Amino acid sequence: MTAAFGGQGLLHHGHRPVLLRETIELLAAERGGLFVDCTVGLGGHSEAILQASSGAQVLGIDRDEEALELARQRLALYGSRFRAVHADFRELTRVLATAKVRQVRGVLADLGVSSLQLDSPQRGFSFRYEAPLDMRMDTSSGETAAELLGRLSEVEIANLIFEYGEEPRSRRIARAIVQQRQRGQQLATTTDLAHLIERAVGKGNKRRIHPATRTFQALRIAVNAELENLDRFLFEAVDHLEQAGRLAIISFHSLEDRIVKRTLSRLSGKCQCPPRLPKCICGATKKVEILTRRAIAPGEPEVAGNPRSRSAKLRGASKI
Ligand SMILES: C[S@@+](CC[C@H](N)C(=O)[O-])C[C@H]1O[C@@H](n2cnc3c(N)ncnc32)[C@H](O)[C@@H]1O
Repeated sequence: MTAAFGGQGLLHHGHRPVLLRETIELLAAERGGLFVDCTVGLGGHSEAILQASSGAQVLGIDRDEEALELARQRLALYGSRFRAVHADFRELTRVLATAKVRQVRGVLADLGVSSLQLDSPQRGFSFRYEAPLDMRMDTSSGETAAELLGRLSEVEIANLIFEYGEEPRSRRIARAIVQQRQRGQQLATTTDLAHLIERAVGKGNKRRIHPATRTFQALRIAVNAELENLDRFLFEAVDHLEQAGRLAIISFHSLEDRIVKRTLSRLSGKCQCPPRLPKCICGATKKVEILTRRAIAPGEPEVAGNPRSRSAKLRGASKI
């Protein structure tokens, strides 16, 4: 099975699925059965699951219609073994009820944005392209990044950029954003925001990341509420696994990985409450065996071939 993934994964629309071989092994996809790919994206991981066994089926969820359509086209050759659903994976229970599915053999979530989203100029995820400041993965609903920056107070913007972007100059950037707003000038496009950040904190030197990188990441996480209810989703996913069913989660951000690590710990029965509490309130109950004592990270060849994989961390568990 390993050789089939060629070490660095398959390329599709410039997108390489991250930690592909490791994920397929963790899911034990060669056993076949029904898997839910909660972040189907361009279908890279889904395709590898389908290839791992002729008895494998995938229910693929994504909140991005554009990605889902590309995945549908790519995986059409697998016929009814692949089904696509436009939804937020935090609605997993509803999606499975609608599909009349109770239990599944595996659940995968490869969190964050796809290369398609980052590299589509019109989506507004990147300061490399002039585009409306949107950043919504699901363009059919919710608030855009421009609307969010128009609504939040200076303190809220600073906290958001500091927490989600780990940006040390968050206050200076937030002040510049609010001053621009007070002058009646809207931040409508990606380049409006990138130039404002450059004016506020300087252009930085060429070897460092662009000064807008962290702010853009923070805004994307906030616009898509990426960390919200991630713990609840993991509990629900485990409830839908059959016995010995597998859960695999790939995260790209330290806050995200911390939530995954702690929630898996709770699901393995280890209480995460502060030691001074007289009684456990975190809901720790032994439902899974953790399969990754340490998160699995990409090796050097993968990072060299796909620099975006460098912050990826894979964690997995098996239902008891
Ligand atoms: C890193 S990409 C997945 C790439 C995919 N594994 C592949 O091999 O092509 C993440 C995808 O998850 C989707 N996504 C992120 N958060 C989501 C959520 N809460 N519900 C549904 N889809 C989500 C994004 O729209 C994006 O297409």
